[in-house]
Amino acid sequence: MTKSKKIFLSEKEMPKQWYNIAADLPGTLNPPLGPDGQPIGPEALAPVFPMNLIEQEVSTQRWIDIPEKVMEMLSIWRPSPLVRAYALEEALGTPARIYYKNESVSPAGSHKPNTAVAQAYYNKEFGINKLCTETGAGQWGSALSFACSLLDMECKVFMVRVSFDQKPFRKMMMQTWGGTCIASPSTETQAGRDVLAQYPDTPGSLGIAISEAVEAAVTDPTGQTRYSLGSVLNHVMLHQTIIGLEAKKQLKKVGEKLPDIVIACAGGGSNFAGLSFPFIQDKIHGAEMEVIAVEPHSCPTLTKAPFAYDHGDIAKMTPLLAMNSLGHGFIPPPIHAGGLRYHGMSPLVSHAVKEGLVTPEAIHQLECYEAGMLFARTEGIIPAPETTHAIASTIRQARKAKDEGKEKVILFNFSGHGFMDLVGYDKYLNGELRNHELGDAEFKEFTEVLKQYPSPIL
Ligand SMILES: Cc1ncc(COP(=O)(O)O)c(C=O)c1O
Repeated sequence: MTKSKKIFLSEKEMPKQWYNIAADLPGTLNPPLGPDGQPIGPEALAPVFPMNLIEQEVSTQRWIDIPEKVMEMLSIWRPSPLVRAYALEEALGTPARIYYKNESVSPAGSHKPNTAVAQAYYNKEFGINKLCTETGAGQWGSALSFACSLLDMECKVFMVRVSFDQKPFRKMMMQTWGGTCIASPSTETQAGRDVLAQYPDTPGSLGIAISEAVEAAVTDPTGQTRYSLGSVLNHVMLHQTIIGLEAKKQLKKVGEKLPDIVIACAGGGSNFAGLSFPFIQDKIHGAEMEVIAVEPHSCPTLTKAPFAYDHGDIAKMTPLLAMNSLGHGFIPPPIHAGGLRYHGMSPLVSHAVKEGLVTPEAIHQLECYEAGMLFARTEGIIPAPETTHAIASTIRQARKAKDEGKEKVILFNFSGHGFMDLVGYDKYLNGELRNHELGDAEFKEFTEVLKQYPSPIL
């Protein structure tokens, strides 16, 4: 094995195709359903997304070419480095070799621009000049604002109220790239007004912000606006696979075979899918590997919620998707990992969990911040609160490897930096943060709604 801290690929070595796991997943994938409970055709999504992205959404082609213009935009920050976490390993005294894919090097500071540039490109190709979206942590809203600025498009972002208040600098980033940022729920949409009438002091949620963004897109009288989603959907997972495809090449460069353990946090599932799907392809074909998706205890979509049909948003504007869901009305507590506060999950990730290819894990906020502190003080970079979930799980696995005396290779996704999330760190350092656990009564109340929908094939 070659001893390198950072493992680089040249721009020429950047993967030229995305990997579509729908071609390889075992079991039957449940299609999205319309309001009548019947599978929807591509045309039902046409008011919301451009047809070229809808084609990707339903594609089962294994490899999909990355357009040259998208490659050019990706090359602003890609390939991202793979880094060996020597200092973290030493601090833990573990025999494990820990590698992380550093997605924080993108202009917006996370993996989100990987799909933002692709989605903006396909919309532009289709003749769309404005995109509406939601953002939880602010990472996605800034990523899409950045992508739209590269392609001279307008961008409007509904930002979950609690993050809007916690992270004012994210709004400034969006504005710098020419985007507009509004706190959600807002009075600009019917969906927002309805929520505010019932819960005037709500911290907001991704489910509410999605309703607002979809409504703003489909009611634009020019017909030139579409909606763009930063996670959950199949085409978003597809665009993110460049992360895992690069990581595979990089591990090979230092003489590693496949990792023993692949870890990423999961909110809607995109950075998890991006890193893990190219490795799950090997697992499907017999490779021994543990793949862990980490979520907060306060929003336990994969570890506690049922696999069911549900809407992706509170106003039920999206089709019914087969996924793990806490119920579309679920408003998670205002933890600081805003990007992990989502009631649902990517249908592809949910399916992979159902098929036993992925092990979900829930970790409390305080353990995650503690892990983030250790990472910052050893490896140097301050992680996003979402990313600390992957780090906390990595630390658990590295300690287990130490206890068992095993030289495991652990790969995790460093999904983003926390430079705009310092309020959370401040609260942690002042002892003001606490753990939240979703109680049984609340869980029952919010998942009740799922009973009215058809059951997916298990
Ligand atoms: C840094 C970071 N990591 C992870 C996530 C979670 O999203 P996803 O599960 O789609 O990767 C987010 C979402 O905003 C994020 O900003």
